[in-house]
Amino acid sequence: MNMDQLKRQAAARALEEVRDGMQLGLGTGSTAKHFVELLGERVAAGLKVIGVPTSETTRLDAERCGVKLTTLDEIDHLDLTVDGADEIDPEFNLIKGGGGALLREKIVAAASDRMIVIADDSKWVPTLGKFPLPVEVIPFGLGATRRAIETAFAECGVSGQMAVRKAKDGHVFVTDGGHWIVDAQLGSIVDPPALAKALSAIPGVVEHGLFIGLASSAVLAGGEGIRVIER
Ligand code: A5P
Repeated sequence: MNMDQLKRQAAARALEEVRDGMQLGLGTGSTAKHFVELLGERVAAGLKVIGVPTSETTRLDAERCGVKLTTLDEIDHLDLTVDGADEIDPEFNLIKGGGGALLREKIVAAASDRMIVIADDSKWVPTLGKFPLPVEVIPFGLGATRRAIETAFAECGVSGQMAVRKAKDGHVFVTDGGHWIVDAQLGSIVDPPALAKALSAIPGVVEHGLFIGLASSAVLAGGEGIRVIER
């Protein structure tokens, strides 16, 4: 089974948790896209749900799949968010934002009663940090923000190269919120909650890809089958 089939399997397992009438957070990325497509099939068969997309890409996918959408201004909470991740550790700390949607993903996850992370099992790691940590920043004053990020890294016992993310066309990648992303190659993040707190305190940082205390369970698809791990 190839990686894409594993991602679809994880998405299909998470779909079993969806009930009629639910208000859903819809994640972003190649795994979450499978979930939206499979959800669309259930909607076509009569399931009644409403979703909040975590990116413009997911909004377009959901519309294409016939999933009814709303916003967090129209409803006061979400029952369940289903989203992918770049890394998941045994404490259920996540790195997200490889697709650049971390800000909306975190707002939606935080507004949700539960968050199920769907992934192929290569994303389950003992320690976060091999995947570059995305930090969403305001372009204004970026030099000062980068220095403050470096200080936060040093205080939290990590270090590594930082680079402003580029789009495929070579221009700076711009998020749905109009911000930039700095990707930091840290290798190993010894204390993700401490680093999350330090990064959140920097004025030019809009958000970062460390998701702490948000995921309730993980659905991991691998060659041996599917594992559902509860926090
Ligand atoms: C999007 O910004 C990300 O947080 C994705 O959820 C994450 O990168 C996982 O993406 P894949 O499912 O494509 O691996």
